[in-house]
Amino acid sequence: MIAALAGAGAVLVVTALLVRAGDGAAIPRFSRDVQPIFDRNCIACHPVSYPYLDLRRGRSYRELYRVSAATRPAFERVVPGRPELSYLLVHPPDPSTSELLTPADRQVIAAWIRAGARDD
Ligand code: HEC
Repeated sequence: MIAALAGAGAVLVVTALLVRAGDGAAIPRFSRDVQPIFDRNCIACHPVSYPYLDLRRGRSYRELYRVSAATRPAFERVVPGRPELSYLLVHPPDPSTSELLTPADRQVIAAWIRAGARDD
C-alpha cells in the first residue's frame, strides 16, 4: 500500500515537472520570439511612416506595455494577460494585421501577452 502510494506520488511529481517544463518552453520571450516578428514585418512603417508607434528593438516594449493606442486611446496596445483586449492584436485591418502577421506570429504574440507580457 505504501509502495503503491509512493509510486503514485512519483508519477504525480514527474507529471507536474513535465507540465511545468512544457509550459516554460511554450511561453515566448519578448526579445527572442516577439521582437523578431516586429523586425521582420513592422519596422518599415513603425516608426518610419507612423512615428506614433516605434517597434524597433530597444524601444518597442515601452511603446506597447499598458500604453494607450494613438488611434484609439480607449484601448491599450498591450494589456498583460489579455491578448483579446490588446490593440496590438485586435486593431482593425491595416497593412500590419491583414497579411503581415501569420497565424503562427499571432499565436506567439498572444501567448506572450497571456503569460503577462514580460520584458524578457
Ligand atoms: C505598410 C505600413 C505598415 C506596416 C508594415 C505595419 N503597419 Fe501598423 N499601422 C499602419 C498604419 C497606416 C496604421 C494606422 C491605422 C489607422 O489609422 O487606423 C497602423 C497602426 C498600427 C497600430 C495601432 C497603433 C495605435 O497606437 O493606434 C498597431 C498596434 C500596429 N499598427 C501594429 C503593427 C504591427 C505589429 C506591424 C507588424 C506586424 C505593423 N503594424 C506593420 C501601417 C503599417
